[in-house]
Amino acid sequence: MAIPIVPTVTALLLLSLALYRFIIFPAFISPLAKIPAAHWSAPFSRLWILYYRSREEETPTIHAAHQRLGPIVRVAPNDISVNSVEGGIRNVYAGGYEKGDWYQNVFKNYDVMPMFAMPDHGPHSKRKRMLSNIYAKTTLQSSSALSTITKVLMEERLMPRLRQVAQSGKPSEFYWLFASLTSDIVSAYMFGLAQGTNYTQQSDVSARFFAHYKARQRYQFWPQDVPSLTRWLGKAGLKWLLVPKWVDEANASMQENVLTMCDAAERVVSEAGGEKDAGFPEDWPNVYAQLRNALLKEQATKTDMSGSVEELVQEQRLAVASEMLDHLFAGFDTSSISLTFLAWELSKPENTVWQEALRNEISTLQDKYDAKAVDSLPLLQAIVQETLRLHAAIPGNQPRITPAAATLGAPGHSISDLPPGVRVQAQAWSLHREPSVFPDPESWKPERWLSSSSPSPVPSPYASEAAYEHAQKEMGRWFWAFGSGGRMCVGSNLAMYDMKAIVVAIWGSFRTTVASDGVRRGDEGMVHRGGYVAEPVGKDGRFLELNVEVLGDS
Ligand code: HEM
Ligand SMILES: *[C@@H]1O[C@H](CO)[C@@H](O)[C@H](O)[C@H]1NC(C)=O
Ligand SMILES: *[C@@H]1O[C@H](CO)[C@@H](O)[C@H](O)[C@H]1NC(C)=O
Repeated sequence: MAIPIVPTVTALLLLSLALYRFIIFPAFISPLAKIPAAHWSAPFSRLWILYYRSREEETPTIHAAHQRLGPIVRVAPNDISVNSVEGGIRNVYAGGYEKGDWYQNVFKNYDVMPMFAMPDHGPHSKRKRMLSNIYAKTTLQSSSALSTITKVLMEERLMPRLRQVAQSGKPSEFYWLFASLTSDIVSAYMFGLAQGTNYTQQSDVSARFFAHYKARQRYQFWPQDVPSLTRWLGKAGLKWLLVPKWVDEANASMQENVLTMCDAAERVVSEAGGEKDAGFPEDWPNVYAQLRNALLKEQATKTDMSGSVEELVQEQRLAVASEMLDHLFAGFDTSSISLTFLAWELSKPENTVWQEALRNEISTLQDKYDAKAVDSLPLLQAIVQETLRLHAAIPGNQPRITPAAATLGAPGHSISDLPPGVRVQAQAWSLHREPSVFPDPESWKPERWLSSSSPSPVPSPYASEAAYEHAQKEMGRWFWAFGSGGRMCVGSNLAMYDMKAIVVAIWGSFRTTVASDGVRRGDEGMVHRGGYVAEPVGKDGRFLELNVEVLGDS
């Protein structure tokens, strides 16, 4: 029998090419081959990391790989993770590596990108310049609108609700309460108090919204991490195999809600002729107006003012809404996760001393709504910072793309001449658990942030002021709750402000203890999800239930 020569040779050739392309090159020749592989299959296939990503277990999985293999690991053929300042976050994030398409795959509201999703540096930094000042610490601390908003929300919405809980003698769920409060504060600052959400007083409406919001997040994996498969199934009319129909419906209704708030804000701004009305500062849509006016100004220079203001506003409507939706969701979700873990830590029996000491510190305030005074309370600062360290709300991967000839890896582990287009990430979860910087990293210890001379309920770990200064500097370099570089969180000051305002309001007037804290893994208590955001896992819609007592009642 004659062997058909041509097909056989072709087949052998193709086979060897495939062998080279998919096995020999990635495992032995690529510069990435020098990086320790987190799993034996990582040099050949993404399946290993995709499996954990799809289950929202990526963060602890990559953390374990760093603990085993050091500060740079390969998690897929073209995908690495770094865990260091030098050769790590300093190079990637302060070095301006681009974002790639991972963000725009899902954060493209109304089909328009907000700055968070923009892949390129130019358009992103232009947008960020329009928005930075409205969220600057000095702007927030001197905003009488914001302090009025806070006072109204705390005294008229939160206090009555908590007094009722205390009177009932029954425990109450706090995760949803924090989500309501942070949504109300952030939306009031963005759209004006009268145009913002009113979730704290409408627990049924808010519970529905949050359940939708969270359940929908479970499905982001498909469009985000396997976009071509998702698109392809979408074209074949089979997307429902991956993402149930109600997810799109929930998404659409959330987009509709934000658009309604934007339109209400627009009426306030256009009635005032674009300028702030001195009469009602708390109802002024600060962030909305800032972006709307900046975009109008930019557009007017481009189009030599051909359209009327109404036409220009209409043209920008979805671009503004997309940005607003992103800030509102980024703002309430992260702050409420952080507050839930903070409340849990403060309410544990072993941390009673911290709750008492914090209460004493709060009682020294002349005015609970004086943002500067609240911001300079040392215990409060230490408690918030330690919570953001141990329980970072975005503890997971923040992927970027390497430029040509990148060098990455901590000193002693560095790999040079990496090709362009490699996905590289760092994660706060691991940076915040570096034992040489944060001794006893798994323990919640606010005292690590306190000077040896400041009053503290537990002994200072620092022998001298110099030792304290040195530790602060080092911890500051590794602290990454808000990211770093040009893409760092634009809302970090608002987050610190709203979290502190809520802590002062609650623990200045109430005492709390843990009634139940959701799913337990071993004796860990509340457990984080291991995806991009890290909310508590919860059980049947219950996350953290606290017993609440009015101070002075016992
Ligand atoms: C405790 C609360 C918060 C945490 C832990 C947090 C964390 C972060 C992190 C880690 C990033 C970078 C993400 C990445 O590159 O993948 C980020 C970006 C961002 N955050 Fe926050 N955030 C918080 C609160 C807020 C608030 C209150 C707002 C809005 C008012 C906000 C708006 C944004 C926006 C718009 C970006 C994108 C910035 C850009 O593209 O330049 N965040 N945040
Ligand atoms: C919501 O749906 C729109 C339209 O299908 C899509 O462009 C967007 O990415 C979705 N947004 C989120 C946050 O899932
Ligand atoms: C918020 O909701 C409550 C309960 O429905 C209502 O009494 C209150 O007037 C609302 N406040 C605002 C500002 O919409």
